Amino acid sequence: MGFKALCLGLFCAFFASRMYVPIPGDIEEYWKVTALDIFAKTCTFMAVCFESIGTMKYEEVISMLLRLDYTQPVSDEYVTVMDTTFVHVPVRLYLPKRKSETPRRAVIYLHGGAFCFGSFKNTAWDSLNRWTAKKLNAVVVGVDYRLAPQHHFPVAYEDSFTAVKFFLQDEILAKYGVDPTRICISGDSAGGNLAAAVAQQVQNDPEFKHKIKTQALLYPALQVIDCHLPSHQENEHGVVITKDLAIKFVSLYFTNDEILYQAMRRNEHMPLESRHLFKLVNWSTFLPEKFRKDYVYTEPILGRYNYSWPVLTDIRASPLLANDSWLQNLPPTYVLTCQYDIVRDDGVMYVSRLQNVGVQVTHDHIENGIHGALSYTEFPLYLRLGFRIRDMYISWLDKNL
Ligand SMILES: *[C@@H]1O[C@H](CO)[C@@H](O)[C@H](O)[C@H]1NC(C)=O
Ligand SMILES: *[C@@H]1O[C@H](CO)[C@@H](O)[C@H](O)[C@H]1NC(C)=O
Ligand SMILES: *[C@@H]1O[C@H](CO)[C@@H](O)[C@H](O)[C@H]1NC(C)=O
Repeated sequence: MGFKALCLGLFCAFFASRMYVPIPGDIEEYWKVTALDIFAKTCTFMAVCFESIGTMKYEEVISMLLRLDYTQPVSDEYVTVMDTTFVHVPVRLYLPKRKSETPRRAVIYLHGGAFCFGSFKNTAWDSLNRWTAKKLNAVVVGVDYRLAPQHHFPVAYEDSFTAVKFFLQDEILAKYGVDPTRICISGDSAGGNLAAAVAQQVQNDPEFKHKIKTQALLYPALQVIDCHLPSHQENEHGVVITKDLAIKFVSLYFTNDEILYQAMRRNEHMPLESRHLFKLVNWSTFLPEKFRKDYVYTEPILGRYNYSWPVLTDIRASPLLANDSWLQNLPPTYVLTCQYDIVRDDGVMYVSRLQNVGVQVTHDHIENGIHGALSYTEFPLYLRLGFRIRDMYISWLDKNL
């Protein structure tokens, strides 16, 4: 068994090294990032092997690895940490211990993980949320929405929405000593998608007495209708996450049917009647020149894909598809994007669309940044970039929440 495992390991390492694509030279901590990339690609390759020999589905292997990293709710001298549920949705609460004369600010955090992975229990998100609570003397709520491929769209959105709606009730805010006028919704990557979608709903739904004060979107994924943006093209063989991998997980958010995945890879997944939506995600109009470069806009091929998935046109899956009148009710927004990131242009386009309708936006773009860096703040995956992003995010919140 040990010998077989060793052989498999060596075999995988060999193939990973064959698949290795040099990473951009200006990336900070180059060798660490290279090691991380090789490690991630080896895991990916192993997962593909497991899937092809039929032992385990690809996503199951990755989820299993991530579950090894779960932490218990541990209180410390500054913050009381506890797990509970909001309606049926699991949440982890971080309640500052320091006395406060006035009600506290609050941050609701939706973790990333391509809609398929991750939990507030993962060490990196647990430490981020704890840090936020301590630094801002704020109540922080980490939310665990149900994941794909067991649960498809809109389950993740609805769980996130349910948790937010529950928290925004008078008696719940009072119970945790939260100021109803100082609440933020934040999220990274797929969590940024959910945060943006929930924020749009809360701000536009007259049923909500309490609105949110700010939203913070960290390298968010904000649309699924165009898979041929300049950032998709530039990061096709990106660090840790390749374009194929990203599309695979996003397609699993909607269906287990491989046909959608294949159609998305070719950017041929949208129906004919969706043509009018493309003006809302037209990168040639919404990206500044710096990101457009010499890329030539090509219209996606519509109507080739037989199956009709009305969900692909849903604004709760692609917050970038919201119209201007919806967007203009959004609160001051923080958007952080990284240069070496497949979803970079989603974030940049959202910045343009929000600015066009007069929403106040702070956009931080990290020139040598990579997607997912907030997850690399714990041993052994420890990058300075992760802390830099964390500190930029917290300092913006401290001034604006
Ligand atoms: C996108 O914008 C370009 C101009 O920048 C225009 O030529 C093209 O027709 C637009 N496409 C869509 C689908 O809006
Ligand atoms: C797609 O639709 C066309 C015509 O409606 C049909 O001929 C073709 O077999 C379909 N393809 C698939 C993969 O279902
Ligand atoms: C904007 O979008 C919202 C939500 O999809 C819809 O209810 C509303 O009617 C739209 N407004 C306009 C002017 O199209």
